[in-house]
Amino acid sequence: MLVLGIESSCDETGVAVYDDEKGLLAHALHTQIPIHAEYGGVVPELAGRDHIKRVVPLVRKVTQDAGVSLKDLDAIAYTAGPGLIGALLVGAVEARSLAYALNIPAVPVHHMEGHLLAPMLEDNPPSFPFVALLVSGGHTMLIKVEKPGCYEILGESVDDAAGEAFDKTAKLLGLPYPGGPKLEALAKDGDSSKYKFPRPMIDRPNFDFSFAGLKTSVLNAVHKSENLEAEKADIAKCFEDAVADTLTAKCKRALDETHMNTLVVAGGVSANSAIRESLTALMNKRKGKVFFARREFCTDNGAMIALAGMLRFKAGERADLGVNVFPRWHLSSLKPL
Ligand code: KG4
Ligand code: ZN
Repeated sequence: MLVLGIESSCDETGVAVYDDEKGLLAHALHTQIPIHAEYGGVVPELAGRDHIKRVVPLVRKVTQDAGVSLKDLDAIAYTAGPGLIGALLVGAVEARSLAYALNIPAVPVHHMEGHLLAPMLEDNPPSFPFVALLVSGGHTMLIKVEKPGCYEILGESVDDAAGEAFDKTAKLLGLPYPGGPKLEALAKDGDSSKYKFPRPMIDRPNFDFSFAGLKTSVLNAVHKSENLEAEKADIAKCFEDAVADTLTAKCKRALDETHMNTLVVAGGVSANSAIRESLTALMNKRKGKVFFARREFCTDNGAMIALAGMLRFKAGERADLGVNVFPRWHLSSLKPL
């Protein structure tokens, strides 16, 4: 069976074709970074307008690359939420109309379920159950995953998401949008011992996160700095260390309390090398297993939507004939598969 996946929840148009026997056949991504960079962040109206221009050519390209025709498709999956409403609507309209024209089902997909399942696109996929750490621009969550679709949220960020903290800190350091990858690049030349930023909520006996205070500490360091240009890389490195330590401590607690020893890490921030290394070291120490997606599938992409869509399609999920999107949609409300 073949599913086309369409992602358009934020600033990337992603399209992919997934075959339930052969795996991923083709995928393509168009990023809007140059459009939003001059504003220092995503401008929702511009995002929607650009998705409109990109989505049809990308569907054409990906089906060609996969060597399939539209008539070969069994379903069209699309990100129905959470995300920017105008951006989501573009993918939803494309998916719904194409599915209608081809007389096949459209399948709504939860963006964060897509992220969470992205490591299953790799050759050595994780097996269930596991603890998942989802770290993206809008969400930071620790989740107990018994099986696909069964998501018990153990903890979440009470303020900024991890990616948001990276982006805001990058802005404080004068780095251009998108901040996360730029901050990582700057941190490579930084010295870990120069600042001791807080590890927020690390001693609290729960699984929640808070990154707003860490951002304030960085702001104070920036204000106090007498030579910011020379100290920027150290601040970036020490910030990155603080986030990595905090995420690692919370994952350890979640694994201990759930008596699990498999960790799946997904979402844009899981592309960060320092965080990957810290979590890998934790799991090596515990003789457990850790799974990440390849870096291009950590951030938004169509492949994860095609994969999650395939699972939901096989479980019988279908969109009705309306164009439905859910800008706010909680992961824990999904049906088990
Ligand atoms: O998952 P994602 O692509 O989109 C959302 O669903 O939000 O995540 C985007 C977030 C942004 O905040 C971005 O700065 C962050 O992931 N990010 C990174 C890195 N690459 C992307 N943060 C730290 N280090 C990176 N290498
Ligand atoms: Zn995302």
